Amino acid sequence: MTTLIENAIKYVKELFQNEYSGHDYFHTIRVYKIAKQIAIKENANIETVMISALLHDVDDIKLSPNTNKNKDNARKFLQDNKVEENIINLICDIISEISYKGIDSKPAKTLEGRIVQDADRLDALGAIGIARAFAYGGNHNRVMYDPDILPCLNMTELEYRNHISTTVNHFYEKLFNLKSLMNTQTAKEIAISRENYMKEYLKTFINEWDGVL
Ligand code: ADP
Ligand code: NI
Repeated sequence: MTTLIENAIKYVKELFQNEYSGHDYFHTIRVYKIAKQIAIKENANIETVMISALLHDVDDIKLSPNTNKNKDNARKFLQDNKVEENIINLICDIISEISYKGIDSKPAKTLEGRIVQDADRLDALGAIGIARAFAYGGNHNRVMYDPDILPCLNMTELEYRNHISTTVNHFYEKLFNLKSLMNTQTAKEIAISRENYMKEYLKTFINEWDGVL
């Protein structure tokens, strides 16, 4: 198991080398670390959680549209590492359930999947979440904020994927929905404190924007 985890860490480090849109190697490592801690608190199968967390973005639809459907990257890595076929299927199933899909988002079927889903979403919140949102916005040529463009709430998966807006609107369109989508109590508590921090940040942002001294 240790070798499998070590190999997965090496694999994602190489795969995400030139990735700057918010799904980089360090995002994966943060998700892995937080998922591991939640797994211990929630008595989940820690090996399944660790390996699924490490591989959760390797077939992401935005980064790797051609391998997304059959999870080819994850499957090949696990096969090369001699993982049993039924475990490979379980891990690929978990990976396919993780992503945020607007109002079409559903909790993953297994406890292990729900934990990785929570860990991935927690990394979109808090200080890191703010940094990732602005990094993504810059990478996609979006403006930071425009008071004349209002956020679009309650989007379906298709609407969410095709929607172009400002980075501040993204807080309202996705990030502030995440708290209520958390599956585990542990993640819910972390999400509440991270969201409060972001709301404080936005208050300061708007004050500075409006020239309030
Ligand atoms: P997932 O991790 O569920 O695949 P995304 O790809 O939507 O979700 O998000 C990855 C990171 O990029 C998150 O930190 C998210 O906040 C950020 N992000 C995604 N879309 C936007 C956007 N339109 N504006 C700013 N940040 C975004
Ligand atoms: Ni992710």
